[in-house]
Amino acid sequence: MSEKRILLIVGGGIAAYKSLELVRLLRKAGVAVRPILTAAGAQFITPLSLSALCEDRVYCELFSLDDESEMGHIQLSRSADLMAKAAGGLANDLASTTLLATDKRVLMAPAMNVRMWNHPATQRNRATLAADGVAFVGPDEGAMACGEFGPGRLAEPPEIFAAIMKALEGPAAKPLAGKRAIVTAGPTAEPIDPVRVLTNRSSGKQGFAIAAALAELGCDVTLVAGPVAVPTPLGVRRVDVETAREMLAACEAALPADIAVCVAAVSDWRPEVEASSKMKKGADGPPALKLVENPDILATLSNGFPRPRLVVGFAAETDNVEAYAQAKLAKKGCDWIVANDVSIAGTMGGDDNAVSIVTPQGIERWERTAKSDVARKLAARMAEELS
Ligand code: C5P
Repeated sequence: MSEKRILLIVGGGIAAYKSLELVRLLRKAGVAVRPILTAAGAQFITPLSLSALCEDRVYCELFSLDDESEMGHIQLSRSADLMAKAAGGLANDLASTTLLATDKRVLMAPAMNVRMWNHPATQRNRATLAADGVAFVGPDEGAMACGEFGPGRLAEPPEIFAAIMKALEGPAAKPLAGKRAIVTAGPTAEPIDPVRVLTNRSSGKQGFAIAAALAELGCDVTLVAGPVAVPTPLGVRRVDVETAREMLAACEAALPADIAVCVAAVSDWRPEVEASSKMKKGADGPPALKLVENPDILATLSNGFPRPRLVVGFAAETDNVEAYAQAKLAKKGCDWIVANDVSIAGTMGGDDNAVSIVTPQGIERWERTAKSDVARKLAARMAEELS
């Protein structure tokens, strides 16, 4: 670990004192820490204590306690403000300039009053930063120094430490380094007219979790996503699409790849014609929608060229789950089918999933668990298959 270096930006807030404990944990693990202490942060801990623990000089921002305008600036440089600046690409102090200039991975551990955290503006900023690839640890829920209760507490130093160490993991933990994957996720939306679409209830959560898990193992991931409200995982290249045909084109553009995982709930059909203006109610009654078949992305990738070495499909069924999955394996020409029973309440759109892995060698049944766990187990199995 001795070659690992992190830059730690400590913003203002009562939780700043916890950064000292975090530095101690990092130093003990042999990680070099270069600190930036914002002017607001320096109101809570001293540059001297940070410098002593980091064994490095502290990069501070200048301010004067006597200067009214600078005090206003100190008030502003808190977690919420740093997030807002970073989300907006603003660079008007050392911390925000550094965040804008870096090409390294960024992990944020915000701490603020619960109402500030829950404010739509902060939540918008969090979503924007997550979409830019920023990872978050916390905030935790609990009693806060201001006397309120709720989400806003800084994650505990051991939790932040674990997140940093995970991000710093070396090549041994990256068995998919040098490999490329395409993951499809979410629903598709097939236009009927300029305002109406044919779509489904897929949330995109399982596909996004798989993209994240593959990236964590060092894989170069292109995530082709239908319309969903899920933040982009850290280190993943995301291509947003709407229709099945756009999804197929984006997948083909991302070839060659070693792995393709088709998690998206692609609409089997689309309206044959998209009305150029909004369809109106009239004396003729409801319009007849003529549907035509969409391309099958999984089958196209499984039988196309260059074929990814490992092609994995999903089968969401409400009955005869494994039998349908076995039939699908043969029909589509893929290597594995991950089968799940969507008749179980909370699977579609929920956070848990119970899956069976169907391969030509047999069926493996996994216990119901969080979609993120399913994703990590699947990614590890894919890495094993390609090793
Ligand atoms: O045929 P069915 O829709 O049940 O197959 C599900 C699997 O096929 C999923 O992996 C899904 O992502 C993929 N699929 C696809 N393109 C389609 C339909 C399904 O890639 N048009």
